[in-house]
Amino acid sequence: MGRTVYFTTPIYYVNAEPHIGHLYTTVLVDTLKRFHTLMGDEVYFLTGTDEHGEKIAQVAQKQGIAVETLTHQVTETFRNTWRQIGLCNDDFIHTTEPRHKEYVQQVLKRVYDAGDIYFDEYTGLYCVGCERYLTQTELKDGKCPDHQTVPKELKESNYFFKMGKYQQALIDHIERNPTWIRPERFCNEVRSFLRQPLDDLCISRPKSRLTWGIELPFDENYVTYVWFDALLNYVSALKQTSDGRDIHDHYWPGCNHVIAKDILKTHAIYWPTMLMSANILPPKPLFNQIDVHGYWLSGESKMSKSLGNVVRPMTFDQQFGIENLRYFFMREMKFGQDANFTYELFVERYNADLANGLGNLLSRVASIAKRSLDGKIPEVTGFTEAEAPVITAATEACQQYPTEFENRRFHLAIESIRKLLAAADGYVNECQPWRLAKEEDKRDDLARVLYTGLEVVRIAAILLSPVMPKTCQGILDYLGERRQLSGDVLFADLTAWGGLTPGHNLGDVPRTFPRIDDKKLKSVLKAAEDQAAKKVAKDDNNTGKMVTIDDVDKVDLRVGVILKAEMVEGADKLIRLAVDLNEDRPRQVFAGIRSAYPEPQGLVGTQVIVVANLKPRKMKFGVSEGMVLAASGGTDRLCLATFDGDLHPGDRVS
Ligand code: MSP
Repeated sequence: MGRTVYFTTPIYYVNAEPHIGHLYTTVLVDTLKRFHTLMGDEVYFLTGTDEHGEKIAQVAQKQGIAVETLTHQVTETFRNTWRQIGLCNDDFIHTTEPRHKEYVQQVLKRVYDAGDIYFDEYTGLYCVGCERYLTQTELKDGKCPDHQTVPKELKESNYFFKMGKYQQALIDHIERNPTWIRPERFCNEVRSFLRQPLDDLCISRPKSRLTWGIELPFDENYVTYVWFDALLNYVSALKQTSDGRDIHDHYWPGCNHVIAKDILKTHAIYWPTMLMSANILPPKPLFNQIDVHGYWLSGESKMSKSLGNVVRPMTFDQQFGIENLRYFFMREMKFGQDANFTYELFVERYNADLANGLGNLLSRVASIAKRSLDGKIPEVTGFTEAEAPVITAATEACQQYPTEFENRRFHLAIESIRKLLAAADGYVNECQPWRLAKEEDKRDDLARVLYTGLEVVRIAAILLSPVMPKTCQGILDYLGERRQLSGDVLFADLTAWGGLTPGHNLGDVPRTFPRIDDKKLKSVLKAAEDQAAKKVAKDDNNTGKMVTIDDVDKVDLRVGVILKAEMVEGADKLIRLAVDLNEDRPRQVFAGIRSAYPEPQGLVGTQVIVVANLKPRKMKFGVSEGMVLAASGGTDRLCLATFDGDLHPGDRVS
């Protein structure tokens, strides 16, 4: 029996639907699972979604929907996307599940009891995009380099985890296990970060500003910081699987996290120190392996919803097929480095390697076999000098491929298959089976050449099967390879030269990997451009569109004075205001500002700007007769617009 390996992807935030960046990591882990299974290892594969935190709460607020609705919808989209694509994850965890919440509270309690949590006041620069405090040295021109936003200064009393206490233990660990983080340059990045004193970690958020999180077991006025919550999914999902099993002790020692470089610090620093404090380190190896990949860029720039250049997995599937994208992913990205995704590059790679490479070899030899050998795999008595380079290339590919996979050099693993196919192609060109087929006395030669070509296809399909599982299974079925790729048969036996079964009826020549022509590429490019243009037009409607002074004049803005401000029963976002506009009676206005003004009475006497000619709106709680203006810089930075001098109710604002 082989090794026991536990692979994880990051759990994705539910502030956005899956795009091909998320797809890459998840497909990579899917491929790793299939590869290890082929090698006879026992593998468990976990993915899921990260549902708590400020970022998610903000998005729900912006969209005007309950945060539970948003998280449920997006989590289901992730789950269904992976299912439709046919990924082989063993479980899917999301962080609002009871099994996870309970475990997070247990661990918090343990860390608290160990004396590793204290209460303090803190001022820091918080990036909501990263969901963490940034240090001055991490900023570029005062902004978060990943999100290009100015972090906000936060000052509040919170709970802190004594992360600094574990700095030396972490440094020692890295020195003892230099391959813990791969590729090496990411390990060096962590090493150099640890040369500075390691700050403690703020692990709570006061409920007065954020309720969307797991309550601290030792203070009901606080929720858990989203990263302290999210990282624990890697263990909570093993402690209790979706179908109720505890598989922790079996898999935890073999844990292998796969992440992109954006979340290296949280995985290489927060996570192991949390594990040390809670005393839940995997016994051996001491810590879990971390594999770090680069970013997929879109034509050299970041993929972003606002640029309209994100590619959705299911859209791509309809256009060109996910399996072909999986090949591109593995071949094109050098693990650890950024890579460029464009449709043009994809089509180029597909046509060169799959249409002209594997597809062409298969259709060439299979169609001659169909015409000249009754569509059967021929019997061959032996091989000659002519086949020697092909057989050598096959042996080399079968050795190189697993080694490169183990070392996370996926592009070289694929390259080893390409070399084998190139050797076979050269061989077929030289032997010219189409000519042999016309000569009666060359039947043996013809049989040998076609067998060799088909055998290369069989071996290539086995090697490629973790990357393109459905396509390769189709090819293997066609070739009559019935052995399971599940480790029951040794990889060496499966890939040993001569595995084809003579006499197998091949049937119709499969049309694998048809060439993608320019017309198809152009139509997809046009659709992508239209999508980006639509996105820009939509943004212009919201922000960039010019209005005339007449348009502005249509809005009757008045000074209003708040006379009464109270909570609205059954509406946790609203405040009911009575606003004096110097009319017969005060106006009733419902304002969605409760999160920023938890004690509404304090608003009485405030002068605000009211849209006085807004059509009255009937709401569940009464009629709203206007709108007060406010600005939002995030859930906690919502502010009413007021005046810096005294005015009279009803004064016109212009
Ligand atoms: N919720 C946290 C992770 C918590 S894990 C305990 C988070 N979520 S995320 O939705 O932002 O996902 C980040 C991850 O998505 C990256 O680490 C990477 O795996 C994947 N990717 C997102 N965009 C990507 C690219 N453009 N390119 C490659 N991977 C990308 O961080």
